[in-house]
Amino acid sequence: MGFPDIRPRRLRTTPAMRRLVAETEVAPRSLILPLFVREGITEPVPVTSMPGVVQHTLDTLRKACVEAVEAGVGGLMLYGIPRAKDANGSGATDPDGILNAAIREVVSEVGEASVVMADLCIDEFTDHGHCGVLAADGSVDNDATLERYAEMALAQAEAGVDLVSPSGMMDGQVGVVRRALDGAGHTNVGVLAYSAKYASAFYGPFREAVDSSLKGDRKTYQQDPANATEAMRETALDVAEGADLVMVKPALGYLDVVRRIKDAVDVPVAAYNVSGEYAMVEAAAANGWIERERAILEVLTSIRRAGADIVLTYWATEVARGFR
Ligand code: PBG
Repeated sequence: MGFPDIRPRRLRTTPAMRRLVAETEVAPRSLILPLFVREGITEPVPVTSMPGVVQHTLDTLRKACVEAVEAGVGGLMLYGIPRAKDANGSGATDPDGILNAAIREVVSEVGEASVVMADLCIDEFTDHGHCGVLAADGSVDNDATLERYAEMALAQAEAGVDLVSPSGMMDGQVGVVRRALDGAGHTNVGVLAYSAKYASAFYGPFREAVDSSLKGDRKTYQQDPANATEAMRETALDVAEGADLVMVKPALGYLDVVRRIKDAVDVPVAAYNVSGEYAMVEAAAANGWIERERAILEVLTSIRRAGADIVLTYWATEVARGFR
């Protein structure tokens, strides 16, 4: 060895030493659990492409939320699957629609013990599966969609949601939602903006989870995976329009984007460890090809290390419990 004899391995000698010098932590409070609730079922329905994840009844949803809160999970993100869909996604703004009913139910169950969020997008409610309403030529009509998002924000706020989460990647969506909330006196309802959301193949299992009707793709509104600078522009716009928190999605292929955004904004940054990322780990582990728990922790640690303050993950409760 040369002089001075520098040995970085000294800090790795024992578990106690490694614990002392660890730079990144996956604390339960930093995790958000996404949950699916489906109208008209009496038993939970497993999502085959996401082993361990189910479409909940209102009843099992409440129980899963309580379990997550008791485990210390920081927040809950709700997705609704309606029985009937139509061109305008009217179920999204129906006060008794499944998502709004679920918000009411979960908020009354967990109260201030958690942060209750809901997806603010109409794709689960439209018969064509797009995140917006369609113009006569079949394209997604940005500005007509904004009106639907404003109504949806109000319906969710009236149901008691803490944060609305616009995920449709329409231009101006954060500003329109913020104005609608403020105009109705919902000044305390915040916006978690899906700011840099990519047109990703890794949403595949989610489409099964929400019984998506989509044919085609979302490339005219979601971002091209090739672009990172554009994500900075999208995020800056969302912050200027009033986003309280911003999000990058998916997480694993976009850790560079997470880091750039973390360094550029002064609001909390979330990253969404999406369905396909979950499914890959579960499938490989089921085959005995990777160690499941180590892989999960490595994934979540890497997302946090890249700069995400908050991680959305389907493993939230299990990880918060320390895999017990
Ligand atoms: C849209 C939405 C999607 C996801 C979250 N919100 C799907 C999409 O944009 O097609 C994907 C989440 C995941 O894959 O885990 N409402």
